[in-house]
Amino acid sequence: MATSDRRLPAPWVNPFLLAPMAGYTELPFRRICRRYGAGAVLTELVSVDGMVRGSPSTWHLLVTDPSEQPVGVNLYGSDPETFAAAVSMLVERTPFRWVDINAGCPVPHIVRRGAGAGLVETPERLAAIVSQVRSITRGPVTVKSRPGLRPDRVRIFEIAAALEEAGATALTIHARTADQRHAGAADWELTAEVRRCCRRLLIVGNGGLTSAAQAVEYLRRYELDAVMIGRAALGRPWIFAEANALWRGQAPPAPPTPDQLRELIQEHFEGLLELERAHPALRKRRQPPERIAVCRIRGHLLHYVRGLPGSTVVRRQLNDLCTPDQLFEAVDFVIGARARSHGTHGGGTANTPTSSNTARSPAD
Ligand SMILES: Cc1cc2nc3c(=O)[nH]c(=O)nc-3n(C[C@H](O)[C@H](O)[C@H](O)COP(=O)(O)O)c2cc1C
Repeated sequence: MATSDRRLPAPWVNPFLLAPMAGYTELPFRRICRRYGAGAVLTELVSVDGMVRGSPSTWHLLVTDPSEQPVGVNLYGSDPETFAAAVSMLVERTPFRWVDINAGCPVPHIVRRGAGAGLVETPERLAAIVSQVRSITRGPVTVKSRPGLRPDRVRIFEIAAALEEAGATALTIHARTADQRHAGAADWELTAEVRRCCRRLLIVGNGGLTSAAQAVEYLRRYELDAVMIGRAALGRPWIFAEANALWRGQAPPAPPTPDQLRELIQEHFEGLLELERAHPALRKRRQPPERIAVCRIRGHLLHYVRGLPGSTVVRRQLNDLCTPDQLFEAVDFVIGARARSHGTHGGGTANTPTSSNTARSPAD
């Protein structure tokens, strides 16, 4: 492996990491990914200003449990002092010790405030944030960034040098410039070049990985310390088990059967429900926990059923799913459609999920 003795110890247990994704990487999904072998997981972006203000919806993002370790918090903001205040609160009130600084979010109002990808324009400020955070937590301090704001403003080499100087543990490079957002080609050659220049910083590659085989290939080809998988893990958390097997030269495990997939969706849903029930005080909207958990899993559901026969019906009716009964009727419809298409069932005509009275819109 490329990691040299001069580098700080990595905060992950294997080199296949789950990327932070707002709206997706909540505790239950992180836990599932860890169980399938993700080397580490990260929360979605959490505002340091929101933490310091005591915003309940911000603190809701900081619920964790020991089974998901190693886990880092993806923090965003622009002011080193506010980072320091937020990380002091984090250390005092939660078990999180690993801080990952978001220097890659391309959302214009965040960039304009000098946070997220705005920090790539100010490497000295990013380094000051790392120093402040390091003075408060003994855990690893990592940064997730991009090559630059635009192709003609690549500053990742300056950033890497500043972070090495400030004592960061690792730099994840989402190898697309901020103006590309999440689409288009990712420049992994550039990531490899940064890796070759860095003596002390661990370098993690990210951007556009679509399969376990590609994750293993890129880890080796670009001689990186780890790779981070984002969208390819949505609905496919077993990608981490596949990557680990391939990395060790073993055959990847078979993907879940339809019944196992249903159990997985159920586990995910129950995790979301438990989260909502356990932390009512942190909930912004005063809706029943069942309803919130159903709303939260809808985005994941599309990924879980992607490519399965019947998934287009679920996609069309997604926003009408409001209760657990409606949710699982839709899940069973897809799982049943898959079984029918494999001839497992007698081939009778299936009801679509809305053909029964359980899928009415809330207005009904
Ligand atoms: C829906 C979505 C939400 C994201 N949220 C975050 C976030 O909260 N923090 C962050 O650092 N990156 C975030 N990202 C960027 C991902 O972590 C990752 O860098 C990007 O998706 C590229 O990886 P991929 O091509 O494997 O998906 C998000 C990406 C997506 C698609």
